[in-house]
Amino acid sequence: MSVNAAEPVKVAVVFYSATGNVTKLARQIAESAEKAGAEVRLRRVTELAPQAAIDSNPAWGENVKDIAEIPEATPDDIVWADAVLMGSPTRYGNIAAQLKQFIDTLGPLWFQGLLADKVYSGFTATSGKHGGNESTLLALYNSFHHFGGIVVAPGYANETLFANASPYGAAHFGNGEIDELVLSGATAQTERVIATAAALKIGRAAAVA
Ligand SMILES: Cc1cc2nc3c(=O)[nH]c(=O)nc-3n(C[C@H](O)[C@H](O)[C@H](O)COP(=O)(O)O)c2cc1C
Repeated sequence: MSVNAAEPVKVAVVFYSATGNVTKLARQIAESAEKAGAEVRLRRVTELAPQAAIDSNPAWGENVKDIAEIPEATPDDIVWADAVLMGSPTRYGNIAAQLKQFIDTLGPLWFQGLLADKVYSGFTATSGKHGGNESTLLALYNSFHHFGGIVVAPGYANETLFANASPYGAAHFGNGEIDELVLSGATAQTERVIATAAALKIGRAAAVA
């Protein structure tokens, strides 16, 4: 699906991933956004864990190497964006401290109203099928509501999203490869986010013309 906006929709994909699952979703979402005609910034948040913790888990070290080429997220990436997709693995049903720390750095922008009126959506990964993916996304969405954001969750809005069966946002579980259904659901979620952001952009431009 492509979007017919006069200017491309600007999409920031901001994520934290320790062992690579959320990285895969973030890459899929960034690629889908580009295919849908958006201008995309794929950004990782700053790692806060001690090196010893990273060294204790080979998958963590691999992911650190894999994402080294991705720029670190800055508050300007959020100001720049029309739509923001944020991703985090679950941490006991909540988002990771690393993503939370990035969100906390947005306080000065929040006070100026610069986070409001954008489209927001989320994605996550858990070990267990019922390990907290829905609560993690809802926890993330708490912040989006405080921003004054327009939360665009996938719902069951079309056949692909219905099949993905994750109305809160793309969610991988387990230790294997990301399921095709989850990947196609992440793409459909991204397209829905972009279509909504494009409609808002066109409508706002028309309102001031
Ligand atoms: C401190 C900590 C807490 C976690 N809590 C949960 C949990 O409550 N439920 C669950 O299913 N997985 C939990 N996990 C597992 C991760 O969320 C899961 O492995 C996820 O896929 C990792 O994503 P990543 O590869 O992008 O880092 C936890 C992991 C850590 C390190």
